[in-house]
Amino acid sequence: MKNITVIGTGYVGLVSGAGLSDFGNQVVCADIDESKISLLQTGKIPIFEPGLKEVVDRNVKSNRLSFTVDVSKAIRDSEVIFIGVGTPEGKNGEADLSAVFSVAEMIGKNLNSYKIICTKSTVPIGTGAKIISLINKFKKKDVEFDYVSNPEFLREGAAVQDFLIPNRIVLGTNSQKAFQIMQDVYRPLFINDTPIVFTNVPTAEMIKYASNAFLALKISYINEIANVCEAVGADVHIVAKAMGNDGRISPKFLHPGPGFGGSCFPKDTKALLSLSKELNEPMNTVAAAIVTNNRQKERMIDKLFNLMGNAIKGKTIAVLGLSFKQMTDDVRESASIEMIQSIIEKNGTVKAYDPVAIQNIKKHFPDIEYSTSWQTAVKDTDAVVIMTEWHEFRGLDLVELKQLVKTPIILDTRNVLSIKDLTSLGFKFDNVGRKAVK
Ligand code: UDX
Repeated sequence: MKNITVIGTGYVGLVSGAGLSDFGNQVVCADIDESKISLLQTGKIPIFEPGLKEVVDRNVKSNRLSFTVDVSKAIRDSEVIFIGVGTPEGKNGEADLSAVFSVAEMIGKNLNSYKIICTKSTVPIGTGAKIISLINKFKKKDVEFDYVSNPEFLREGAAVQDFLIPNRIVLGTNSQKAFQIMQDVYRPLFINDTPIVFTNVPTAEMIKYASNAFLALKISYINEIANVCEAVGADVHIVAKAMGNDGRISPKFLHPGPGFGGSCFPKDTKALLSLSKELNEPMNTVAAAIVTNNRQKERMIDKLFNLMGNAIKGKTIAVLGLSFKQMTDDVRESASIEMIQSIIEKNGTVKAYDPVAIQNIKKHFPDIEYSTSWQTAVKDTDAVVIMTEWHEFRGLDLVELKQLVKTPIILDTRNVLSIKDLTSLGFKFDNVGRKAVK
């Protein structure tokens, strides 16, 4: 097993560091954010990620996992360094790589022996070459390193499982020696025959973007199918189910909704589109996925306004679900942001609830009313909007809901409620692609 440093303790770095220590490696998670590191050193986890605390605690207890703000020392003391810092969207759609490049410079300056430098963060195709040249620029002449692109495929809310039991490991490098070392890093996965893709750096980088952009495209596709279903009286759930019976399509990622959000799909589709334009190889499919996604968010707002007869001014609306999907506290690019923004712009009042994401959405909307339960959120409201598919929303007691609201109007953007019950209880409602269902 190896001495590893993971630089960056966000959604990707922290899960990766914990997972790598669980594989038996000696791991230090390093970050310049002192508040994050001191939280971790006291056994607290700065993000909501089911199962992560157990993995962290188990490996801290076994002295395989620790945390530090001294990134330079961590680099000097390790054999394998994972770059796990954020690559947020830049002002015109390209990825902001400033954190990656500053880490690359720090690695160059602290390269005191042969090491593997491994990029886990999602970086545009071609970034590996830039990281390599940056390290070469700052390192001492007589010290060598090898570079590996090792993209992550972690879903927030399922990241621990996705790391420990991945569909595949992608290793992009031109060094056989580096490949051997990475086999050691991921030994448990090699032993249990996890598919390993061993390729060059640009191909590994492309696999990440091609996968994410395709998943985003699949969502935009089913969202548009849902919208046409509404017009022709079809049930998108039955359509999606029957589509999924075809192994070439698969039933996964065919759930229509309010539009995809998160820190990946919106950013990665824009970065791929931006690169394709730069290369004069336009990707119309990815461009269309982005346009469709933006339209889908607007469509949800139109649906709410139609349900309310466009009379929003002075009305109170409960928004249930504030993160970009269930099982996460992450609100980045959440469809709930546009929904809340539009209600406020129309002089409506919002009462918001989410099981875990309220602290994060408050940065966007410090002045709206937040509730500690869906019941208090919906009390005396003129309409209710469901934005994420948390089980507690799926299992809403509609009789109780009807007694609590002022007006029985509900927009179910995730199709989690029973249409039969909504109808029999006299709700005025709408959903995505299931207008025809009785
Ligand atoms: C995604 C990829 O799944 C993961 O492999 C990659 O490493 C990072 O990006 P994540 O963004 O965490 O993971 O969540 P995901 O579960 O993929 O959902 C992304 C968005 O698509 C969410 O807003 C979700 O609500 C939406 N979605 C997903 C749908 O609207 N319909 C679906 O069927 C699936």
